[in-house]
Amino acid sequence: MKKVSVVDLKIGDKVVKLDKNWLDTGFFSHHFLIKDQSVIDKLKHNNVDYVYIEYSEEEESIKELYSGNAESVINRHREEIKKNYINLDEVKNAKVIYTESVKVVKSFMEDIRTGAMFKDGAVKAVASNIAEITMKNKGVLASVTKLKHYDNYTFQHSMNVGIFASSLAAHLGMSHRDIERIAKAGLLHDVGKMLVPQEILNKPGKLTEEEFRIMKNHVQLGYDFLLDNGVPEDMLNLTLQHHERHDGSGYPNGLKDEEISIEGKIGAVVDIYDAITSDRCYHKGMEAAQALRLMFKWTDSHINRKVFDFFVMNVGIYPVGSLVLMDTNELGVIGKINHNKPTNPTVLIFSDKMGREKPIQIVDLSVSAINKRKILGPVNPADIKIPSKVYAYIEKMNEIK
Ligand SMILES: [Fe+2]
Repeated sequence: MKKVSVVDLKIGDKVVKLDKNWLDTGFFSHHFLIKDQSVIDKLKHNNVDYVYIEYSEEEESIKELYSGNAESVINRHREEIKKNYINLDEVKNAKVIYTESVKVVKSFMEDIRTGAMFKDGAVKAVASNIAEITMKNKGVLASVTKLKHYDNYTFQHSMNVGIFASSLAAHLGMSHRDIERIAKAGLLHDVGKMLVPQEILNKPGKLTEEEFRIMKNHVQLGYDFLLDNGVPEDMLNLTLQHHERHDGSGYPNGLKDEEISIEGKIGAVVDIYDAITSDRCYHKGMEAAQALRLMFKWTDSHINRKVFDFFVMNVGIYPVGSLVLMDTNELGVIGKINHNKPTNPTVLIFSDKMGREKPIQIVDLSVSAINKRKILGPVNPADIKIPSKVYAYIEKMNEIK
């Protein structure tokens, strides 16, 4: 617990105590999340000067990870990180649920395009499934988001945004009910795309200025459609704000960071991440490490830094090219996915437990008899120098024969 002045509160802080009796304030509970600026305003309005927040070691850790000091981070968080391990059985189950859910998403989105009845019950069922699994393991569904069973990007992308958004909401400490709402909002964030002409939606390559203007309408079209179909307005922050940008350069309303809700901030991060890491019919998606490095450059201009940090710390997937920390405190890069054991890839280890560079060691984690190492979690690649030789190895290992 840490005492902070109300003026220093940040979105994402968890309040655990106020400096006043609750009878003297408009707060029925003293345990709540600062989910947007309105909560801070309400505290000020109630003349609350100081609050106590849950002290976030995680925030400190993120700073250390950026500076490359992974060793002390891991020692402190070993137990917490272990809780988020995913095992093969869970992944198998998640794969089945993911595959079935994408079919449901496809069906309700196509209904919108053809003008059939909106199946709110179907959306709700998928959302509550996502929330339930995420409550048990925050990262397991995220680990299967890159299954390539579908040729239509839009449906899979909607599912992925629902999954990433709920995983992030769970890591931010939101309640089961809020996670379910955010899953649903993620599934629905791009329904407006079903109402823009198909030739623009599926056009390979760059849109003309006019086509881009029409495409941008998908936000307002989706928002209006959902309101007309009885989805409550307070559920639609993610839908309406997922293209708003930190510096006010986004659309449709050009909101700035403090005006964007927590759902909108989450929506922006997960929408961008899934979009740039997904394969499209006309180009291959970026590797996770490259995408995260690029997104890091966009913090404070396009996306909220704190939400992005949480995302980096908690993405439960290890695609080829991502930087990971081992339980031996060594750092490595995922070299190759072992398709029979997706959570035990081959890792190229390039630094020793003290963070010193060492000759690259290729470790196949699927061969447990020889290897005892485990991946503890993904690491932000922003400030860690990965030897270029690692990428040469990756290319060779993944050569198509
Ligand atoms: Fe969108």
